Amino acid sequence: MLQKYLPAEAGQAKSQYNVLEIGSGTGQHAVYMPEHLTGLVWQPSDYDESYATSVAAWTHGMPNVKPWIRLDASASPEQWPVEASWFDCVYNCNTVHIAPIAVLDGLVPGAARCLKKGGKLVTYGPYKLNGRHTAESNADFDASLRARNPEWGIRDFEEVNQRALSSGFVLEGREDMPSNNFLCVWRKQ
Ligand SMILES: C[S@@+](CC[C@H](N)C(=O)[O-])C[C@H]1O[C@@H](n2cnc3c(N)ncnc32)[C@H](O)[C@@H]1O
Repeated sequence: MLQKYLPAEAGQAKSQYNVLEIGSGTGQHAVYMPEHLTGLVWQPSDYDESYATSVAAWTHGMPNVKPWIRLDASASPEQWPVEASWFDCVYNCNTVHIAPIAVLDGLVPGAARCLKKGGKLVTYGPYKLNGRHTAESNADFDASLRARNPEWGIRDFEEVNQRALSSGFVLEGREDMPSNNFLCVWRKQ
């Protein structure tokens, strides 16, 4: 589904479509995406340094994956250890609900800073729509997240969208995905 929002060249080697992944975790997307879309140049990152070794092992020998970097998405945009206006895409999967709201506070303006004009901010995960869960299972999941950490929880799509619009993005699309998740894509104007 992501491919629908990427230029055709992203699938062709040498295109150099630069993607910054926020919250890569163990690195499964850092392997899958660049392996299948060879025009991507994938920059994995996470704030948790314990993932560095795992990502390095998984992506070893992949020419279009950059060495893992430590990036705390809750930091102010100027503190992100990446160049301004460099990336074509900032990709973030299953993170904003499993992290304090400070991650969202940093993610949207941080992405706005490091994306080129026309670059995409992509998030994947569950959202509430108009304040309501889209499935009973998401309500249960939300309760379990909040029980683990009161600062975690499924976010409202409208709130995230409003933040994105305020940071200079336009919503390009929102796709229904399996297990009551959404793929959301904003474009930097
Ligand atoms: C549920 S895991 C998702 C991992 C991966 N994206 C996936 O979909 O499999 C959430 C990730 O967000 C990361 N994370 C949490 N807070 C963060 C922060 N402030 N900055 C960057 N990453 C963060 C965690 O370390 C973890 O790797």
